[in-house]
Amino acid sequence: TRAGIDFAVADLSLAEFGRREIRLAEHEMPGLMALRREYAEVYPLRGARISGSLHMTVQTAVLIETLVALGAEVRWASCNIFSTQDHAAAATVVGPHGTPEEPAGVPVFAWKGESLEEYWWCTEQMLTWPDGATANMILDDGGDATMLVHKGTQYEKAGVVPSADDSDSDEFRVFLDLLRASLAVDASKWTKTGEAILGVTEETTTGVLRLYQLAAQGELLFPAINVNDAVTKSKFDNRYGIRHSLIDGINRGTDVLIGGKVAVVCGYGDVGKGAAESLRGQGARVVVTEIDPICALQAAMDGYQVSTLANIVDKADIIITTTGNKDVVTVDDMARMKHQAILGNIGHFDNELDMAGLARFPGIHRIEIKPQVDEWVFPDGHSIIVLSEGRLLNLGNATGHPSFVMSNSFSNQVIAQVELFTKHEEYDREVFRLPKKLDEKVALIHLNALGGELTRLTKEQAEYIDVDVEGPFKPDHYRY
Ligand code: NAI
Repeated sequence: TRAGIDFAVADLSLAEFGRREIRLAEHEMPGLMALRREYAEVYPLRGARISGSLHMTVQTAVLIETLVALGAEVRWASCNIFSTQDHAAAATVVGPHGTPEEPAGVPVFAWKGESLEEYWWCTEQMLTWPDGATANMILDDGGDATMLVHKGTQYEKAGVVPSADDSDSDEFRVFLDLLRASLAVDASKWTKTGEAILGVTEETTTGVLRLYQLAAQGELLFPAINVNDAVTKSKFDNRYGIRHSLIDGINRGTDVLIGGKVAVVCGYGDVGKGAAESLRGQGARVVVTEIDPICALQAAMDGYQVSTLANIVDKADIIITTTGNKDVVTVDDMARMKHQAILGNIGHFDNELDMAGLARFPGIHRIEIKPQVDEWVFPDGHSIIVLSEGRLLNLGNATGHPSFVMSNSFSNQVIAQVELFTKHEEYDREVFRLPKKLDEKVALIHLNALGGELTRLTKEQAEYIDVDVEGPFKPDHYRY
């Protein structure tokens, strides 16, 4: 705690560097800056206490300061152990008007390279408000904050936290330990938090899946907005963001020439489409694996070879998983990979790759080349290079998606926060999407910022295709 703000970041002296990059990012985030202007005198988030769990990057700093500009109080943690940019975290704590000695910003609990214990500690701190207050909104990426409140409530009701079983990941084990400790101190902490929360807005595909599962089981404690499936989120961030940040991560991690190499992309959803395009852009020969014939056919029509991992794994120079599924690359696959082939995941959780199995492989040994780049040497002498220990490599090895694309995603986040905070009584405990009109508004701001000019419908044309001159321009089932 310093100047009344509790926080845990790597180094507050990085704040000035962080602030300089935030200033540049603001110019590249026209959507967020437009929302600041639009709501300048309204403060729609006054009274909101937002607990946020999302990669603590420069772009996120601009999001946080937008929420504050709209009147919210905010506490923050990163949703991944490797994704924090320490200068952005420092600048967010210090705030635009504070100093490292007298910070005047937002409590942030995040640094690059947290242990799993530290990760869950940070997540708990972000959800623990001073003076007995609780959060009343969650902004989530991947659903860990939402899971903490839900599982915490469930175990408090049961009066006991179950012990982990063999199939549980280390991550979940540490999570259960944290809940056990919390239950011993305050047996109603998460129940109180769950009751106070008016809603959650969720950033990514994996977190949205968890929300729909909770809603289907009737267990969702508060309404949720699925930000991911705003068109200006998943069709831009997941795709064009990855197109930028995937090769950024591979390059910063390895500096290996991508051109001419065989690169396998597992999954051809939004993230996979961006990943394949970025690798092809560097001249790689890209092979796609899919389980869905529609996406597989799309990959084929886009000119990629479609194959199975089993068929291609021993010929690949680079393998990237983008599925949001588990066990996509097994340890047996890894053992068959070429000497010094590169393996990385860009889906939300590290269980796409069997990292635990790799660590247990008889006779394996690990050489850290540098942070977030490991060479794993098999007993036969051949090795593979694993990026970010199997966690999202674009944020672990590089700096994630650039500002302009995140401005689209985060504009939807801000709009969703305002919507749920100000109109929560209109929403049941289900998962909702934002109206298309708002999607079109976010798109138009960014189109204008790029100098694009939109054609306007005549009244007769609008009638002919049965839309309003002002939009929305497509029916809800349109897929873009
Ligand atoms: P999506 O659902 O559009 O695409 C996933 C694709 O993987 C689907 O087409 C599915 O059929 C395929 N798939 C599933 N199991 C497979 C298997 N065993 N083998 C091959 N293909 C398989 O999801 P989206 O939006 O592309 O997201 C994917 C993951 O990336 C999610 O975990 C999401 O949260 C994460 N994400 C990560 C970002 C980052 O910055 N690193 C940004 C946005 C999303």
